[in-house]
Amino acid sequence: MSTIKTVYAREILDSRGNPTLETSIWTDDGFGAVASIPSGASTGKYESKELRDGDNNRYNGMGVLKAVANVNLIIAKAIIGLDPQKQNDIDQTLINLDNTQDKSKLGANAILSVSQACFELGAACNNLQSFQYTSQKYGLINPTATRMPTPIFNLINGGRHGAGNLQFQEFHCIPSSRKLFSESLEMGTELYHLLKNILIEKKAIHSVGDEGGFAPNLFSNTDAIELLVEAIETSQFKINDDVYMGLDIAASSLFSNGKITITDNKDPMNGEQFGAFLNDLYHKYSLLSIEDPFGEDDWQSWSNFQALMGKQIMVVGDDLLVTKKNRLKQAIETNACNAVLIKPNQVGTISETLQTIKLAKENNMSVIISHRSGDTEEDFLADLAVGTGADFVKFGAPGRGERVAKYNRLLYIQEFLQNNQ
Ligand code: PGA
Ligand code: ZN
Repeated sequence: MSTIKTVYAREILDSRGNPTLETSIWTDDGFGAVASIPSGASTGKYESKELRDGDNNRYNGMGVLKAVANVNLIIAKAIIGLDPQKQNDIDQTLINLDNTQDKSKLGANAILSVSQACFELGAACNNLQSFQYTSQKYGLINPTATRMPTPIFNLINGGRHGAGNLQFQEFHCIPSSRKLFSESLEMGTELYHLLKNILIEKKAIHSVGDEGGFAPNLFSNTDAIELLVEAIETSQFKINDDVYMGLDIAASSLFSNGKITITDNKDPMNGEQFGAFLNDLYHKYSLLSIEDPFGEDDWQSWSNFQALMGKQIMVVGDDLLVTKKNRLKQAIETNACNAVLIKPNQVGTISETLQTIKLAKENNMSVIISHRSGDTEEDFLADLAVGTGADFVKFGAPGRGERVAKYNRLLYIQEFLQNNQ
């Protein structure tokens, strides 16, 4: 049996130029694994908390040296000698050591970096790739090249991720799930490049936002959807057949005193009015999915919306659920949504992430594995998605290295599965 011998965390940069952790773990018999951790900008109120130094003399207070020290000086002592394949035991050790509800003492960033590196180390000790280890260990699916997750491409970035004036955070193109992953990726890049040309022709800003999608100045959010329609219509693909559209409203950052103000509508709207507005958008554009249409505490609006739209579209809970099993349970009980966004750093350990995925699957909810707006060249999420049989991945636009690293890993896994079946 391999046991953990060395644990070493260091500070590296994420795609926004902010510090984050990279943790390496080795066993006594020479296996090793490395994990780095992403960071959100539109974070949900109920997420586990990343630990930042708050020392304004370094990186505007965003340094993570305290979290690094927590790994190297506190966590290392507690897990050296453990079997890296005992993921539940390791994660429970981390949870006990932190002993807060939101992992704020040691930092969810410190804890996840260790949990994830241990998971990858467990795979290495078995001479398995992480996606194979995930599927064998948790028995959620037997991956094949034709059952890969469908990519959700975020081609226009608004809200807190864009430099422009759009209120909605993300405007998606989603290939039909009957396509092979590699075909979907090619489609995503074709639409991405067509959209760029359209923005250039219109003399609109075509620089990109945090997730690689374009961040133009437009009059309204509906205009951004129209641009996606134009890109699709210029392409060889048929709208609502080969490719669909979706939105992430990220509404927790938009509602204030129960009302949302968007440039598409003269007056601020309450939850009910906004639900009706989105219903109209659905009828006009046949949207496939809408994420976070309401704030994270507005359970009633979610349930009303799910009753109205849940049969036609994916109603996706991100800030609402924050990858936590107890919040997902509440969503199931109140029938608040039918799809769950999975971001391991919202909860803080891989075991808890897998428990949430399992509960979603048991309740026939769609599962979407997601990056964060600040991310690294880490590609573990691709393995997690394939290994759990997730329905979708949301890894941003097919541009910017930290996004492409994850898509490239999926390409590799597809080829591997094609050659080994
Ligand atoms: P975040 O955004 O990583 O900034 O939280 C991603 C999302 O809301 O889906
Ligand atoms: Zn979101």
